[in-house]
Amino acid sequence: MSGSFDLLVRNAGTVFTADGPEGGNAEQLLAPISRGAVGILGGQVGWIGAERDLPRERAAPSTKMLDAGGGLVVPGFVDSHTHLVWAGDRSGEFALRCAGADYLSIARAGGGIASTVRAVREASDETLIALALPRLRRLLAQGVTTAEVKSGYGLDAETELRMLRVIDRLGARQPIRLLRTFLWPHAMPPGSTDRAAFLTLGREVLREVARAGLARFADAFVEEGAFGEDEVRPFLEEARGLGLGLKLHVDQLQAGHGAELAASLGALSADHLESTGPLGIAALAKAGVTAVLIPTATLVLRLPRYAPGRALVDAGVGVAIASNCNPGSAPTENLALALSLACLQNGLTPAEALLGVTRRGGEALGDASLGRLRVGGPADLVVLGAPDVDHLVAHLATSHVQAVVRDGRIVLRTDENARCG
Ligand code: NIG
Repeated sequence: MSGSFDLLVRNAGTVFTADGPEGGNAEQLLAPISRGAVGILGGQVGWIGAERDLPRERAAPSTKMLDAGGGLVVPGFVDSHTHLVWAGDRSGEFALRCAGADYLSIARAGGGIASTVRAVREASDETLIALALPRLRRLLAQGVTTAEVKSGYGLDAETELRMLRVIDRLGARQPIRLLRTFLWPHAMPPGSTDRAAFLTLGREVLREVARAGLARFADAFVEEGAFGEDEVRPFLEEARGLGLGLKLHVDQLQAGHGAELAASLGALSADHLESTGPLGIAALAKAGVTAVLIPTATLVLRLPRYAPGRALVDAGVGVAIASNCNPGSAPTENLALALSLACLQNGLTPAEALLGVTRRGGEALGDASLGRLRVGGPADLVVLGAPDVDHLVAHLATSHVQAVVRDGRIVLRTDENARCG
């Protein structure tokens, strides 16, 4: 790509492209460039390399400068699993869990997903948008430039379609790129017991979703207390036939064969995986399914085990890390905390964790141009005031974001110098 840069990001201690050749270890995949710079034009990366090699003639008087202050420059973070459109407040569930209640007992008592469904059905589109915008601002402050957002709190045709349209409107109202997922089999709707009728209706709504281009992915919650593998298979197969990518909630609360189901369907990702064992791991590896780990939900739900991140990476599975921002199991936008937990509890290295919110996040969304910095790719990047990757995860639950660039435009700059060292 020739021509003068619109924006030049310079003076980085290290630029991580996350675009190293597949097959390497995490450090190689992150492909660090010491004293790097990134030249941007037309919303895309135009040049990337060591600053000493910068083609000076492309830095014109009109070129804007973004000084990284010796910190890190990384691809914009990809949060590959969120439920960030909701209404209502389930903070009381947190207290119940602290007192020993578990996910299923809260759900059976009328809390959990069903309580959010009731609140979302009553909320107007404008209310849902107004409630989601601050969550998106907090995600942006974490360095997120792309987020997947699920429906799943409507569970009737009208409200599910409304949620997907709300997500679309949110995408136009703030800087984060939003990719939509149709999550019909999330829970049985409150008051309804006819599972077959609910799932049949879901396939009708699915056709409308596909026809109107309202979602890129379809999802299902496969778990005891939610839906069984055989129940969701027809919905997922039809979604795949309609061209939607598949993402599945599996093996979160108890061991099942969710990972194997995701593998057999050729899903883009299998998410949660706390109870996945060696057979499930092997199936994911063989089928090339990305594992999306959500350690904040493991923490909040006080589950007895974290997903086997180390074993997944060692088996050759691509491992992404997501916030799961939702009103119940993960009421947080704090991706920094998720990265630290991924190291402390899932057994990832700091480099693997960073890969989990960049390149692997893009892969979990079936888009290899996301979560990487490469010439011709989207100029989504984050400037972090940290000396190295270890620092990002060691300084718990703290965002080091100094600036965020989406499609070549600076969309966030922090006021104070967030540099830590
Ligand atoms: O990803 N596991 C199912 N779905 C969500 C929980 C959503 C909720 O509790 O509202 C999850 O953890």
